[in-house]
Amino acid sequence: MQYQFPDNFWWGSASSAPQTEGAAFEDGKGENIWDLWYKNEPNRFFNGVSATEASTFYKHYRSDIALMKDIGHNSFRTSISWSRLIPTGHGEVNPKAVEFYNNVIDEMVAQGIQPFINLFHFDMPVAMQEIGGWENREVVDAYAEFAATCFKLFGDRVKHWFTFNEPIVPVEGGYLYDFHYPNVVDFRRAVTVGYHTILAHSKAVMAYRAQQQDGQIGIILNLTPSYPRSQNPADLRAAECADLLFNRSFLDPAAKGEFPQGLIEILKQYDQMPDCQVGDSDIIAAGKVDLLGVNYYQPRRVKARLTAVDQNSPFMPEWLFENYEMPGRKMNPHRGWEIYEKGIYDIMINLRDNYGNIPCFISENGMGVEGEDKFLKDGQIQDTYRIEFIQDHLSWLHKAIQEGADCRGYHLWTFIDNWSWCNAYKNRYGFYSLDLKTQTRTKKLSGEWFAQVSKNNGF
Ligand code: BG6
Repeated sequence: MQYQFPDNFWWGSASSAPQTEGAAFEDGKGENIWDLWYKNEPNRFFNGVSATEASTFYKHYRSDIALMKDIGHNSFRTSISWSRLIPTGHGEVNPKAVEFYNNVIDEMVAQGIQPFINLFHFDMPVAMQEIGGWENREVVDAYAEFAATCFKLFGDRVKHWFTFNEPIVPVEGGYLYDFHYPNVVDFRRAVTVGYHTILAHSKAVMAYRAQQQDGQIGIILNLTPSYPRSQNPADLRAAECADLLFNRSFLDPAAKGEFPQGLIEILKQYDQMPDCQVGDSDIIAAGKVDLLGVNYYQPRRVKARLTAVDQNSPFMPEWLFENYEMPGRKMNPHRGWEIYEKGIYDIMINLRDNYGNIPCFISENGMGVEGEDKFLKDGQIQDTYRIEFIQDHLSWLHKAIQEGADCRGYHLWTFIDNWSWCNAYKNRYGFYSLDLKTQTRTKKLSGEWFAQVSKNNGF
C-alpha cells in the first residue's frame, strides 16, 4: 500500500438534514427559509425542484445506514434540523423529531458508525427569520438554547458536535451575492450576520462545556486558500484581504478566540463595523473549538484590482481584489470548479504552523458532476474521475499528516446524491446515485473503491 493512514482514521461522508430528509411538511416540522423561498420563487431552483422530498432519508434512514456500512463508513455527518426539532425556533420541542433523531443515532451506533452531528446547515427556521434571522441577537440566544437541547437529548451517544457548517456561506449567499434567502445585498448587514453567527457558535460551545459531557465540539469551515496571481505586493495584499474576509473571519475566532486585527482594520476603514457589546469578546474567547472540520473543494485565486471602484455601487469584498483565472489551471469540466489538490496540503500546513496544529479532519471534499448519467454503464455510474479526484487529494493529505498535521479523517461530500439548495439535483456528488423518480440508490464505482480504502485504511 502506498498511502497508509493513521489508526482509527475516520472514513465516511457528509450530508445535512435539509438536503436529505425530505418530509419537509410532515410530523410537525416547522418551515425553514428554503421551504419559504421555494414557495415564493420556485424559478430560483434548478429544474424547479424543491427539498420537500429530497432523498427521503426521513423515510429510508435505516436502509441508508446499511448502505453506509456497506461501503465502509465508520463515521457519518449529518445535521439536526432546527425547524424539525423546535418548529418555531424556540420553545416547544417536537416529540416526533426527537423520536426520529434518536432512531437515526441509535441505528448508526448499532452499525458501528460514529454520528457526527452538525446543528446548522443554512436552514434558518422561518419564525426566526421573521424576527431578523442572524441580524437579531434574540436568534443567537434561541440557537444556543436549541444547541443545549440537542446536547441534552443526544449527547450520551453523539461525541462529535459541530455548531455550524460553512457559516460564511449564509453571509455571502443571503446578504452579499443573492444566492440564499433573504437575498439582501448589504455589506454591513452581512457583517452583522457573520458577527452574530460567531456569538451563536461561542454560546453553543459554552452550553456544551457547561453540560460537562465527554465528547468534542467543533465547527466546520470551508477554508479556501487565497492564492495571489504573483508576488507583486499589490497582488499579495489582494490575497491577504480575501483570506481575511472569507477564511480568517471564522477561522481565527473558532481556533484562537479572537478576530484578526487585519479584518477589524478593513471593517473600520470602510465603516462597516458591527455593533459590539460589552462582554462580547469574552464570549468569543470562550468559543475555541476542540475539533475543526475543513471543507475543501477549490482554491481562490486573486489579483489586485485593475479598475477603479464605482463609488456609487454597494461596498463589496471585490472592492479589495479581483478574481484571477490562472492560465492552464486544471478544471472539473462537469462543475466548472478548478481542481487544485495541493490546496488540501496547504490548508493543513497553515493549520499546523499558524493555528497550533489544531485537531482537524476533512469534513467535505468532492466532485460535482452535472449530467452524470452519461457515465452510466451496465447499470452503474463508472466514476473513475471521482476515484482519481479523491486519490489525488488523499495523497496530498497523507503528505501533510506525514509532516505532522493533526488530521483525523476524511469525509466525502456526499453519501447519496442529494439536493443542493438552488442547484437542487444538478451536480451529483454521491457514492450512490439517486434515481429521482423511484428514489432507488445504486452504488457507484467510487463507492466500491471507497469500501476497500476504508477496509485497508489506505490505498
Ligand atoms: C458545499 C455545501 O459547500 O457544497 C453543501 O456544504 C453543498 O451543502 C455542496 O451541497 C455542493 O454544492 P453544489 O452547488 O455544487 O451542488
